[in-house]
Amino acid sequence: MALVNENYLRLHGRYLFSEIARKVNVFKTIHPEAKLIPMGIGDVTKPLAGAVIDAMHKAVNEMSVGSTFRGYGPEQGYRFLVEKIIASDYEPRGVHLEPDEVFVSDGCKSDMGNIGDILAQDNVVAVTDPVYPVYVDTNVMDGRSGILSESGGWSNIVYLPCTAENNFIPELPDKHVDIIYLCFPNNPTGTTLTKTELKIWVDYALKTGALILYDAAYEAFITEKNVPHSIYEIKGAKQCAIEFRSFSKTAGFTGLRCGYTVVPKEVLAGSRSGEKVAVNALWNRRQTTKFNGVSYITQRAAEAVYSPEGQAQCAENIAYYLENASIIRSSLLEMGLEVFGGVNAPYIWFKTPEGLGSWKFFDRMLYETNVIGTPGVGFGPSGEGYLRLTAFGSREDTLEAMARFKNWKF
Ligand code: MLT
Repeated sequence: MALVNENYLRLHGRYLFSEIARKVNVFKTIHPEAKLIPMGIGDVTKPLAGAVIDAMHKAVNEMSVGSTFRGYGPEQGYRFLVEKIIASDYEPRGVHLEPDEVFVSDGCKSDMGNIGDILAQDNVVAVTDPVYPVYVDTNVMDGRSGILSESGGWSNIVYLPCTAENNFIPELPDKHVDIIYLCFPNNPTGTTLTKTELKIWVDYALKTGALILYDAAYEAFITEKNVPHSIYEIKGAKQCAIEFRSFSKTAGFTGLRCGYTVVPKEVLAGSRSGEKVAVNALWNRRQTTKFNGVSYITQRAAEAVYSPEGQAQCAENIAYYLENASIIRSSLLEMGLEVFGGVNAPYIWFKTPEGLGSWKFFDRMLYETNVIGTPGVGFGPSGEGYLRLTAFGSREDTLEAMARFKNWKF
């Protein structure tokens, strides 16, 4: 009989958002008449920008004619998109990248999960806590986690608590680590690091040889000047960091799927024999073997995000979500809750009242207000006692949810 990868047997029963969906389905069976308001998973609701739709129609037409039809494309992404990414997302911030340092993919989640393929199993991984569950779960799958403790943490993973007590600024690890996952603007807390705060991490990685995996999926929501959009705005980061970006939240591509990963050629990692290996070459090898690239139609759609019309239309959608975030923030603050995030991010993170546990509060919110959130503890032990709401709903739903909260005696 074939044997399974037993690391998978160590995982919790379900991925966080699948567990929430299960609970919601149970609720729906009992209360089929309830009007639920989803503010749990960070999924966009606004339709794709007109410029994106036009580009896709055009690309579909090209695919229907022999002379313009495209089969397999480059696994790393079409040059027309890679050049736009570099020219629009990096050059204006003073970051120079070569086209072969950018890898277009079907999204940040896949790349953040797959990057572990090219890294040794005995690397020590550090994550901020709470954290996007994909980083931890994929390291469990890869055999880097050790065992699950009573507190909900894994024995071989170094947790860097980010709570109201430290203003959501992680402290440098007090033991050796090899790989550090950072996500700013942060999912789930919606908080950010300034350039000075991020520089501490880059300097640390340069000094210790650690590799930073930087998730910048929410950079388009940054409104404050001193918050970096890319880790490469920090000197030296091109030697120690891989950056992951996504069109999901920036341009509403959650259902279309496109993102990209920047692997500078200067980033080196070691082999057991002491050799220094370019991570870029390994990632290229992995992608060309296991991935056939993103569809031509989708890449034309992503290219259109960078057109003047695309930029304006996407910015309008982001402003809409940020306005929702502001409505949620101020409503929760008016209710006397302790609220974080929502200024440079589409996520609002708040302390549950009366010290209620996250799942308990999630259940009460679901059953008493019919609003779906995400329990903080689902993102890690330090998320206990918090709940996350997303600002990706419609304005109408956002206002309705806040009205329900105001009349709620929790
Ligand atoms: C979230 O809700 O944390 C995100 O939508 C999940 C994701 O981006 O995969």
